Amino acid sequence: MGIKVSEFGKTSKGSEAHLYTVVNSRGMAMEVSDYGATLVSIIVPDAKGRMDDVLLGYGDVQDYEKGTCYFGACIGRNGNRVKNAQAVIGGKVYQMEKNEGENSLHSGSEGYSGIIWDAEADPKENSVRFHHTGADGEQGLPGTFDVTVTYTLTDENEIRIHYEGISDKDTIANMTNHGYYNLAGHASGNVENHVLWLDASAFTPVGEGMIPTGEILDVEGTPMDFRVAKKIGRDIGADYEQLKIAGGYDHNYVLPESNGSIRRIAQVTEETCGRTMEVLTDAPGVQFYAGNFVESRPIGKEGVVYGKRSGLCLETQGFPDAGHHEAFPTTVLKAGDKYDTTTIYRFGVLSE
Ligand code: GLA
Repeated sequence: MGIKVSEFGKTSKGSEAHLYTVVNSRGMAMEVSDYGATLVSIIVPDAKGRMDDVLLGYGDVQDYEKGTCYFGACIGRNGNRVKNAQAVIGGKVYQMEKNEGENSLHSGSEGYSGIIWDAEADPKENSVRFHHTGADGEQGLPGTFDVTVTYTLTDENEIRIHYEGISDKDTIANMTNHGYYNLAGHASGNVENHVLWLDASAFTPVGEGMIPTGEILDVEGTPMDFRVAKKIGRDIGADYEQLKIAGGYDHNYVLPESNGSIRRIAQVTEETCGRTMEVLTDAPGVQFYAGNFVESRPIGKEGVVYGKRSGLCLETQGFPDAGHHEAFPTTVLKAGDKYDTTTIYRFGVLSE
Protein backbone atom coordinates (compact mmCIF):
# COMPACT_ATOMS: atom_id res chain seq x y z
CA MET A 1 0.00 0.00 0.00
CA GLY A 2 1.03 3.60 -0.34
CA ILE A 3 1.99 6.20 -2.88
CA LYS A 4 5.53 7.06 -3.92
CA VAL A 5 6.41 10.24 -5.84
CA SER A 6 9.42 10.32 -8.16
CA GLU A 7 10.83 12.56 -10.88
CA PHE A 8 9.67 11.98 -14.44
CA GLY A 9 11.96 14.40 -16.27
CA LYS A 10 11.52 17.97 -17.46
CA THR A 11 9.26 19.05 -20.29
CA SER A 12 10.80 20.85 -23.28
CA LYS A 13 9.59 24.09 -21.63
CA GLY A 14 11.49 23.23 -18.44
CA SER A 15 8.61 22.19 -16.18
CA GLU A 16 9.26 19.31 -13.84
CA ALA A 17 7.03 16.29 -14.20
CA HIS A 18 6.39 13.65 -11.56
CA LEU A 19 5.40 10.05 -11.44
CA TYR A 20 3.05 8.75 -8.74
CA THR A 21 3.35 5.04 -8.04
CA VAL A 22 0.31 3.60 -6.29
CA VAL A 23 0.31 0.03 -4.95
CA ASN A 24 -2.60 -1.93 -3.49
CA SER A 25 -2.69 -4.67 -0.84
CA ARG A 26 -2.53 -7.36 -3.53
CA GLY A 27 0.67 -6.00 -5.08
CA MET A 28 -0.96 -4.48 -8.15
CA ALA A 29 0.57 -1.13 -9.13
CA MET A 30 -0.50 1.87 -11.18
CA GLU A 31 1.66 4.81 -12.22
CA VAL A 32 0.24 8.20 -13.19
CA SER A 33 1.95 11.45 -14.09
CA ASP A 34 1.02 15.07 -13.54
CA TYR A 35 2.13 15.60 -17.14
CA GLY A 36 -1.16 15.21 -18.97
CA ALA A 37 -2.76 13.37 -16.02
CA THR A 38 -1.37 10.40 -17.92
CA LEU A 39 -1.74 6.77 -16.99
CA VAL A 40 1.83 5.50 -17.43
CA SER A 41 1.77 1.87 -16.30
CA ILE A 42 -0.46 -0.84 -14.86
CA ILE A 43 1.31 -3.81 -13.31
CA VAL A 44 -0.98 -6.78 -12.67
CA PRO A 45 -0.63 -10.54 -12.07
CA ASP A 46 -1.51 -13.16 -14.67
CA ALA A 47 -3.17 -16.52 -13.94
CA LYS A 48 0.14 -17.88 -12.57
CA GLY A 49 0.79 -14.80 -10.46
CA ARG A 50 3.46 -13.35 -12.77
CA MET A 51 3.47 -9.56 -12.82
CA ASP A 52 3.64 -7.58 -16.02
CA ASP A 53 2.93 -4.06 -17.25
CA VAL A 54 -0.16 -4.22 -19.49
CA LEU A 55 -0.21 -0.58 -20.63
CA LEU A 56 1.74 0.95 -23.51
CA GLY A 57 3.74 4.06 -22.65
CA TYR A 58 7.01 5.95 -22.57
CA GLY A 59 9.91 6.19 -20.15
CA ASP A 60 9.90 9.93 -19.52
CA VAL A 61 7.98 13.12 -20.06
CA GLN A 62 9.84 14.27 -23.17
CA ASP A 63 8.93 11.08 -24.97
CA TYR A 64 5.29 11.71 -24.05
CA GLU A 65 5.64 15.20 -25.55
CA LYS A 66 7.00 13.75 -28.80
CA GLY A 67 4.57 10.84 -29.07
CA THR A 68 1.56 11.10 -31.35
CA CYS A 69 -0.50 8.09 -30.23
CA TYR A 70 -1.92 9.60 -26.98
CA PHE A 71 -0.57 6.66 -24.89
CA GLY A 72 -2.46 6.64 -21.56
CA ALA A 73 -3.47 10.26 -22.09
CA CYS A 74 -6.24 12.11 -20.34
CA ILE A 75 -8.27 13.70 -23.14
CA GLY A 76 -10.34 16.85 -22.66
CA ARG A 77 -12.27 19.05 -22.73
CA ASN A 78 -13.48 17.18 -25.81
CA GLY A 79 -12.45 13.72 -26.90
CA ASN A 80 -12.44 12.42 -30.45
CA ARG A 81 -13.03 14.33 -33.69
CA VAL A 82 -15.02 17.45 -34.52
CA LYS A 83 -15.86 18.23 -38.12
CA ASN A 84 -14.13 21.38 -39.38
CA ALA A 85 -13.05 21.85 -35.76
CA GLN A 86 -16.37 23.63 -35.20
CA ALA A 87 -17.96 22.94 -31.84
CA VAL A 88 -21.65 23.80 -31.69
CA ILE A 89 -23.06 24.98 -28.37
CA GLY A 90 -26.62 26.30 -28.18
CA GLY A 91 -26.66 26.96 -31.95
CA LYS A 92 -23.42 28.99 -31.79
CA VAL A 93 -20.25 27.81 -33.48
CA TYR A 94 -16.91 27.90 -31.65
CA GLN A 95 -13.76 27.42 -33.71
CA MET A 96 -11.36 24.90 -32.26
CA GLU A 97 -7.90 24.09 -33.62
CA LYS A 98 -7.66 22.09 -36.86
CA ASN A 99 -5.00 19.59 -35.82
CA GLU A 100 -6.02 16.67 -38.05
CA GLY A 101 -6.63 17.94 -41.57
CA GLU A 102 -9.68 20.19 -41.40
CA ASN A 103 -10.88 18.61 -38.18
CA SER A 104 -10.12 18.76 -34.48
CA LEU A 105 -8.81 15.67 -32.70
CA HIS A 106 -8.76 15.42 -28.90
CA SER A 107 -9.07 19.21 -28.45
CA GLY A 108 -5.96 20.22 -30.40
CA SER A 109 -2.50 21.18 -29.16
CA GLU A 110 -3.92 22.81 -26.00
CA GLY A 111 -5.56 19.50 -25.10
CA TYR A 112 -5.34 18.18 -21.56
CA SER A 113 -2.86 15.46 -22.50
CA GLY A 114 -0.11 18.06 -22.83
CA ILE A 115 -0.48 20.23 -19.72
CA ILE A 116 0.98 19.88 -16.24
CA TRP A 117 -1.84 19.34 -13.75
CA ASP A 118 -1.83 20.18 -10.04
CA ALA A 119 -1.52 16.88 -8.25
CA GLU A 120 -2.50 15.67 -4.83
CA ALA A 121 -1.80 12.16 -3.57
CA ASP A 122 -4.34 10.67 -1.18
CA PRO A 123 -2.73 7.57 0.40
CA LYS A 124 -5.85 6.81 2.47
CA GLU A 125 -7.96 6.39 -0.67
CA ASN A 126 -5.05 5.06 -2.77
CA SER A 127 -5.86 7.92 -5.16
CA VAL A 128 -4.09 10.64 -7.06
CA ARG A 129 -6.20 13.70 -7.82
CA PHE A 130 -5.31 16.01 -10.71
CA HIS A 131 -6.77 19.48 -10.95
CA HIS A 132 -6.80 22.12 -13.69
CA THR A 133 -8.57 25.41 -14.19
CA GLY A 134 -9.18 25.86 -17.89
CA ALA A 135 -9.43 29.53 -18.87
CA ASP A 136 -12.46 30.89 -20.72
CA GLY A 137 -11.55 30.43 -24.40
CA GLU A 138 -9.10 27.56 -23.81
CA GLN A 139 -9.07 25.29 -26.91
CA GLY A 140 -11.52 27.78 -28.47
CA LEU A 141 -14.25 26.74 -26.05
CA PRO A 142 -16.26 29.06 -23.79
CA GLY A 143 -16.31 29.08 -20.00
CA THR A 144 -13.80 28.77 -17.20
CA PHE A 145 -13.74 25.02 -16.69
CA ASP A 146 -12.70 23.76 -13.29
CA VAL A 147 -11.81 20.12 -13.74
CA THR A 148 -10.58 17.28 -11.53
CA VAL A 149 -9.54 13.80 -12.62
CA THR A 150 -9.03 11.23 -9.87
CA TYR A 151 -7.29 7.90 -10.40
CA THR A 152 -7.91 5.32 -7.66
CA LEU A 153 -6.39 1.87 -7.37
CA THR A 154 -8.75 -0.33 -5.36
CA ASP A 155 -8.02 -3.60 -3.57
CA GLU A 156 -10.30 -5.28 -6.11
CA ASN A 157 -7.58 -4.63 -8.73
CA GLU A 158 -9.61 -1.86 -10.33
CA ILE A 159 -8.46 1.46 -11.70
CA ARG A 160 -11.26 3.95 -11.25
CA ILE A 161 -11.10 7.17 -13.22
CA HIS A 162 -13.44 9.85 -11.96
CA TYR A 163 -13.90 13.08 -13.94
CA GLU A 164 -15.57 16.08 -12.31
CA GLY A 165 -15.98 19.55 -13.69
CA ILE A 166 -17.95 22.76 -13.61
CA SER A 167 -18.04 25.74 -15.97
CA ASP A 168 -19.40 29.29 -15.66
CA LYS A 169 -20.62 29.24 -19.29
CA ASP A 170 -22.12 26.49 -21.41
CA THR A 171 -19.20 24.47 -22.78
CA ILE A 172 -18.29 21.00 -24.04
CA ALA A 173 -17.29 18.31 -21.56
CA ASN A 174 -16.45 14.94 -23.05
CA MET A 175 -13.39 13.44 -21.42
CA THR A 176 -11.75 10.07 -21.70
CA ASN A 177 -8.59 8.12 -21.06
CA HIS A 178 -6.64 6.91 -24.06
CA GLY A 179 -4.88 3.89 -22.51
CA TYR A 180 -3.59 1.19 -24.86
CA TYR A 181 -3.84 -2.26 -23.29
CA ASN A 182 -2.02 -5.47 -24.07
CA LEU A 183 -2.96 -8.06 -21.47
CA ALA A 184 -0.04 -10.33 -22.39
CA GLY A 185 2.30 -7.46 -21.45
CA HIS A 186 3.06 -4.17 -23.17
CA ALA A 187 6.09 -5.69 -24.93
CA SER A 188 4.32 -8.74 -26.31
CA GLY A 189 3.22 -7.43 -29.71
CA ASN A 190 -0.02 -7.79 -31.58
CA VAL A 191 -3.39 -7.88 -29.75
CA GLU A 192 -5.38 -9.64 -32.46
CA ASN A 193 -5.58 -12.80 -30.33
CA HIS A 194 -7.24 -10.91 -27.48
CA VAL A 195 -10.89 -11.86 -27.12
CA LEU A 196 -13.36 -9.01 -26.80
CA TRP A 197 -16.93 -8.91 -25.58
CA LEU A 198 -18.66 -5.57 -26.10
CA ASP A 199 -22.19 -4.85 -24.95
CA ALA A 200 -23.21 -2.77 -27.95
CA SER A 201 -25.82 -3.54 -30.58
CA ALA A 202 -25.01 -0.47 -32.70
CA PHE A 203 -22.14 1.80 -33.70
CA THR A 204 -21.72 5.17 -35.41
CA PRO A 205 -20.19 4.72 -38.87
CA VAL A 206 -17.68 7.24 -40.18
CA GLY A 207 -16.94 8.86 -43.51
CA GLU A 208 -14.19 11.15 -44.71
CA GLY A 209 -11.69 12.18 -42.04
CA MET A 210 -13.15 9.58 -39.65
CA ILE A 211 -16.07 11.95 -38.98
CA PRO A 212 -19.38 10.23 -38.10
CA THR A 213 -21.96 10.22 -40.88
CA GLY A 214 -24.68 10.68 -38.23
CA GLU A 215 -26.17 7.22 -38.74
CA ILE A 216 -26.56 4.70 -35.96
CA LEU A 217 -26.03 1.26 -37.49
CA ASP A 218 -27.01 -2.11 -36.09
CA VAL A 219 -24.00 -4.45 -35.66
CA GLU A 220 -26.15 -7.50 -36.44
CA GLY A 221 -24.68 -9.55 -39.26
CA THR A 222 -21.56 -7.34 -39.57
CA PRO A 223 -17.92 -7.83 -38.50
CA MET A 224 -18.53 -5.01 -35.98
CA ASP A 225 -20.55 -7.35 -33.72
CA PHE A 226 -18.79 -8.28 -30.43
CA ARG A 227 -21.94 -9.16 -28.45
CA VAL A 228 -20.71 -12.73 -28.54
CA ALA A 229 -17.04 -12.60 -27.52
CA LYS A 230 -14.61 -13.18 -30.37
CA LYS A 231 -10.97 -12.61 -31.22
CA ILE A 232 -10.25 -9.08 -32.37
CA GLY A 233 -8.34 -10.49 -35.34
CA ARG A 234 -11.13 -12.78 -36.52
CA ASP A 235 -12.97 -10.30 -38.72
CA ILE A 236 -10.66 -7.26 -38.63
CA GLY A 237 -9.56 -7.83 -42.24
CA ALA A 238 -13.09 -8.46 -43.53
CA ASP A 239 -14.21 -6.87 -46.76
CA TYR A 240 -16.41 -4.32 -45.00
CA GLU A 241 -16.40 -0.63 -45.84
CA GLN A 242 -16.17 0.68 -42.26
CA LEU A 243 -13.13 -1.51 -41.52
CA LYS A 244 -11.49 -0.37 -44.73
CA ILE A 245 -12.06 3.33 -43.98
CA ALA A 246 -10.57 3.04 -40.49
CA GLY A 247 -7.84 0.46 -41.24
CA GLY A 248 -9.49 -1.88 -38.72
CA TYR A 249 -11.69 -1.23 -35.68
CA ASP A 250 -11.72 2.44 -34.71
CA HIS A 251 -15.37 3.19 -34.03
CA ASN A 252 -17.72 4.60 -31.47
CA TYR A 253 -20.02 1.91 -30.11
CA VAL A 254 -23.44 2.80 -28.76
CA LEU A 255 -23.78 1.45 -25.23
CA PRO A 256 -27.02 0.43 -23.50
CA GLU A 257 -28.91 3.19 -21.64
CA SER A 258 -27.08 3.86 -18.34
CA ASN A 259 -29.57 6.17 -16.56
CA GLY A 260 -26.53 7.66 -14.87
CA SER A 261 -25.32 4.43 -13.33
CA ILE A 262 -22.13 2.50 -13.98
CA ARG A 263 -22.58 -0.74 -15.90
CA ARG A 264 -20.24 -3.39 -17.25
CA ILE A 265 -19.82 -2.79 -20.97
CA ALA A 266 -16.78 -4.78 -22.10
CA GLN A 267 -14.46 -7.61 -21.23
CA VAL A 268 -11.10 -8.37 -22.79
CA THR A 269 -9.39 -11.74 -22.28
CA GLU A 270 -5.94 -12.94 -23.25
CA GLU A 271 -6.04 -16.71 -23.04
CA THR A 272 -2.33 -17.58 -23.00
CA CYS A 273 -1.58 -15.57 -19.83
CA GLY A 274 -5.13 -15.72 -18.46
CA ARG A 275 -5.47 -12.00 -17.72
CA THR A 276 -8.87 -10.36 -18.09
CA MET A 277 -9.94 -6.72 -18.11
CA GLU A 278 -13.52 -5.56 -17.64
CA VAL A 279 -14.65 -2.04 -18.45
CA LEU A 280 -17.43 -0.39 -16.47
CA THR A 281 -18.74 3.10 -17.16
CA ASP A 282 -21.69 5.46 -17.09
CA ALA A 283 -20.71 6.97 -20.46
CA PRO A 284 -23.03 6.60 -23.49
CA GLY A 285 -20.32 5.42 -25.91
CA VAL A 286 -16.96 3.74 -26.20
CA GLN A 287 -14.36 4.10 -28.95
CA PHE A 288 -12.95 0.66 -29.66
CA TYR A 289 -9.62 1.30 -31.37
CA ALA A 290 -7.51 -1.73 -32.30
CA GLY A 291 -4.29 0.30 -32.39
CA ASN A 292 -4.20 0.18 -36.18
CA PHE A 293 -1.73 3.08 -36.41
CA VAL A 294 0.46 2.44 -33.37
CA GLU A 295 4.12 3.11 -33.95
CA SER A 296 7.15 3.56 -31.75
CA ARG A 297 8.22 7.07 -32.45
CA PRO A 298 9.82 7.57 -29.96
CA ILE A 299 10.75 4.14 -28.55
CA GLY A 300 8.50 3.00 -25.70
CA LYS A 301 9.34 2.44 -22.02
CA GLU A 302 11.98 -0.21 -21.27
CA GLY A 303 13.20 0.26 -24.86
CA VAL A 304 10.21 -1.57 -26.30
CA VAL A 305 9.37 -0.97 -29.96
CA TYR A 306 5.62 -0.92 -30.46
CA GLY A 307 4.06 -1.68 -33.82
CA LYS A 308 0.68 -1.84 -35.50
CA ARG A 309 -1.96 -3.26 -33.11
CA SER A 310 0.42 -3.66 -30.13
CA GLY A 311 -2.34 -2.35 -27.89
CA LEU A 312 -6.09 -1.78 -27.93
CA CYS A 313 -8.11 1.14 -26.59
CA LEU A 314 -11.57 1.22 -25.06
CA GLU A 315 -12.10 4.96 -24.73
CA THR A 316 -15.37 5.61 -22.91
CA GLN A 317 -16.94 8.81 -24.22
CA GLY A 318 -19.84 10.86 -25.51
CA PHE A 319 -20.47 10.31 -29.22
CA PRO A 320 -17.91 11.98 -31.53
CA ASP A 321 -18.88 15.22 -33.26
CA ALA A 322 -22.12 15.22 -31.26
CA GLY A 323 -22.76 18.92 -31.96
CA HIS A 324 -23.43 18.19 -35.63
CA HIS A 325 -25.84 15.27 -35.16
CA GLU A 326 -29.29 15.67 -33.68
CA ALA A 327 -29.61 11.94 -32.99
CA PHE A 328 -26.49 11.87 -30.79
CA PRO A 329 -26.71 12.62 -27.06
CA THR A 330 -25.38 16.10 -26.30
CA THR A 331 -21.89 16.65 -24.90
CA VAL A 332 -22.72 20.22 -23.85
CA LEU A 333 -22.18 20.96 -20.15
CA LYS A 334 -24.56 23.70 -19.05
CA ALA A 335 -23.21 26.59 -16.98
CA GLY A 336 -23.28 25.68 -13.29
CA ASP A 337 -24.12 22.01 -13.87
CA LYS A 338 -21.77 19.35 -12.60
CA TYR A 339 -19.87 17.15 -15.03
CA ASP A 340 -19.41 13.82 -13.28
CA THR A 341 -18.48 10.60 -14.99
CA THR A 342 -16.62 7.44 -13.98
CA THR A 343 -14.91 4.61 -15.84
CA ILE A 344 -13.42 1.53 -14.21
CA TYR A 345 -10.86 -0.86 -15.67
CA ARG A 346 -11.06 -4.03 -13.56
CA PHE A 347 -8.31 -6.63 -13.87
CA GLY A 348 -8.62 -10.33 -13.11
CA VAL A 349 -7.61 -13.76 -14.29
CA LEU A 350 -9.48 -16.65 -15.89
CA SER A 351 -10.31 -19.34 -13.38
CA GLU A 352 -8.95 -22.83 -14.19
C1 GLA B 1 -6.85 8.87 -32.11
C2 GLA B 1 -8.20 8.28 -31.76
C3 GLA B 1 -8.18 6.81 -32.06
C4 GLA B 1 -7.71 6.58 -33.47
C5 GLA B 1 -6.38 7.21 -33.72
C6 GLA B 1 -5.97 7.02 -35.15
O1 GLA B 1 -5.89 8.43 -31.23
O2 GLA B 1 -8.53 8.42 -30.42
O3 GLA B 1 -9.48 6.29 -31.88
O4 GLA B 1 -8.65 7.12 -34.36
O5 GLA B 1 -6.44 8.58 -33.41
O6 GLA B 1 -4.63 7.35 -35.31
